[in-house]
Formats: sequence, C-alpha cells, structure tokens
Amino acid sequence: MTLQAVDNERQVLLSRFLEAREATDALFRMVSPAAMYDRPIPERHRIVFYVGHLEAFDWNLLGELANRTSAHPEFDRLFAFGIDPTHGDLPTDQPQDWPRLTIVNSYRDQVRQELDRAIETAAPQLINVAIEHRLMHAETLAYIFHQLPFEYKLRPAETPTAQRSSVAPGSVDIPAGNAELGLRRDSPVFGWDNEFDAHTVAVPGFTIDRYKVTNGQFLRFIEQGGYGDPSLWAPADWDWRIAQSISHPVFWTPRGERWGYRTMFEEIPLPPDWPVYCSYAEASAYARWAGKVLPTEPQWHRAAESPAPQGMIGTGWEWTSTEFAPFPGFQRFDCYPGYSEPFFDGRHYVLKGGSTRTAPCMLRRSFRNWFQPHYQYVYAGFRCVEADSK
Ligand SMILES: [Fe+2]
Repeated sequence: MTLQAVDNERQVLLSRFLEAREATDALFRMVSPAAMYDRPIPERHRIVFYVGHLEAFDWNLLGELANRTSAHPEFDRLFAFGIDPTHGDLPTDQPQDWPRLTIVNSYRDQVRQELDRAIETAAPQLINVAIEHRLMHAETLAYIFHQLPFEYKLRPAETPTAQRSSVAPGSVDIPAGNAELGLRRDSPVFGWDNEFDAHTVAVPGFTIDRYKVTNGQFLRFIEQGGYGDPSLWAPADWDWRIAQSISHPVFWTPRGERWGYRTMFEEIPLPPDWPVYCSYAEASAYARWAGKVLPTEPQWHRAAESPAPQGMIGTGWEWTSTEFAPFPGFQRFDCYPGYSEPFFDGRHYVLKGGSTRTAPCMLRRSFRNWFQPHYQYVYAGFRCVEADSK
C-alpha cells in the first residue's frame, strides 16, 4: 500500500469514528432529561451508564496513546463494564448511585478531547474496535429506548412512515452444498475475534421459509394456545415463561380483543405482515408447534447465499439453533478479551442478518450476534426449516 493509500484509509476510519459518536449522541438527544436515570429493560443498565460507558471504553482502549494519565480513573472503571446479566441476577443499583449528568457529560467531553489527538497514531484495528463497539451500542440503545414510555422520548422531525405490504408465506428448497462461514485472516475487512477462522461446512439440502415468520402467523400460535402447552417449550423455557408470566412478545400489548404493537414513538394496531420480534424460547416453541425447527447457522448461510429467501439482511436479526461457540482457530482479541469468550458458555445462541438499526459495516456476511434464549427485546425474529430436512 502506498503512503497516500494508508493516509486515505486512516482519514476514512477517523471520519467513521466521528460519525459513530454523532450516531450515539443523536440517540441520547432523543431521551427526555427526566428519563436519563431510568432503566427501561430490567436486565440492562440505567441510561446514564451508557453515556459514560462509550467514552470509558474508548479511553480504556486508546487512552495509553494519549501519553498522559487518566483525568478520571474512577470513571474509567465505573463505566467500563456491564453487558450481560450474570446467572439471572438483575442489577439493583439506584439512580443516586450514579454521578450527575453534567459531570458525566464533562467526562465525555474531556475523554474526547484527549482521544482526538491520540487516535491519529492508533492502529486501524483498534479504531475499528472503537467504531463497531459504539455502533453496536447504538443498536442496543435503540432497543432499550424502544421500551421507554413514549412521553419520555422526543420524536425527531422526520421519522419514516410504516410500510404496509402483504406477504404470502411459502417455502424455498435449498440444495445441498457448502456454506462459507467466517472471515479469512488476510481479508482487508475488519472482523471480530469470533468471525475467525474462515471455514467451509457441508450442508445437506433443506427447506426454509421464504419470509420471516410474521406477526399474523405468530398470532395463530397464540390463539391456538401455544403459550399454554408445555410440550411445545423446552423445560427451562417453560419455567421462564411461568416465572415471568410471559404470554406474548414484548412488543405486543393486549387491548381487549385486539393487540397493540409498540413502535418507537407510538402504539399502532398489530401489523400482521411485519416480521414478529421475539425471544429464542418463543421462536423455538412456535417452530415446534408448526412441526418445524429453527435453522442452524450453516443453514442460514446457505439460505442467505441463495436468491430465493427474502429479507435476510438488515430487516431483523434471525435466531439460529446454533449455540454461540468459537470457530476452529479462534484467538481472542487481546485489546478486548471480554468481547466473545465469556459468552461461549452454552447459554447463548447465534443470530444472523442484522436489523434496520444495525450499522451497515456489521451487515457483513461473517458478523455474528448472540443472545440468551429468554431475551425478548432485540429486533430479532426467525424463519423455520422443515423438520425432515436432513
Ligand atoms: Fe460496551
């Protein structure tokens, strides 16, 4: 690569880094100041945590390049952690446990000022880690804010209008063939540790839904007693359903004989043709009720490489039945050891495809997402595979 090309690549990375900051700043501007210490999802942090977290992460990753000691080591630690609830325990911190917003905002400004100089010399991989970490949080913030009461959100002047179109469910035969998983080590594209190594998996032929399962299809499952039939649920999923009184997807609200559907800024009547968003447990119960199964990660790849299935990229994550585990040749990123490895625990499942809130860089083929089976809040749905597919 010529010096000029290296310079250009760095300029592109730096401007993407600034754009990522603007993306998360814009999301925080959407929240009324009165709600900044709220916790819209019980398993997650209070909103104010994320204001500090995005900067603490960047500082902990890149700060040593700034050639000076931290101005606020206490905040670097306070805001460093907290992604996943451990063993079902919910956080119990109170609003008064957190610093005032003006103080967190000045921490943010100070970190940015220091890093703006330091980042000029950072390795491209570190800048990519900072960019994608922040952009992943942009999606997480969106689905957290989704659960915030409407009166606490400031609707931007321009929001997209909902499209209404109808889909006729159908299925697609995918012939036997190889699925290409992962990213090659010599790829110029950035990838996280869990995307390596690239490898090929032979997949027998199978039949998969042409579209993601819709709200209308899922409604039939509910109306036919799907949430009341323990034979459709894995034992741990059934226990969760009973303990938490789960009787419908979290985006749905019972309104007498009808269902309301929660969008970011308003409730609308349930749109039957939109893909349903639900947890892995609910998706699995539906699949069993339909006499089908969820696709494996290699099957999802085979389907996505075929032109026939619709809407596999950027229209909602899709649950797979594959437990999140390292690919052969996995080596954790030393700059972010906690990114993947703690979640190779047999308690998380791979999701593929990306949602409308996923940044374009993470719509790449090799990107893998993962969640626990009882997490209902993600923009994630599913499609089914015929159970007799070998
Ligand atoms: Fe984070």
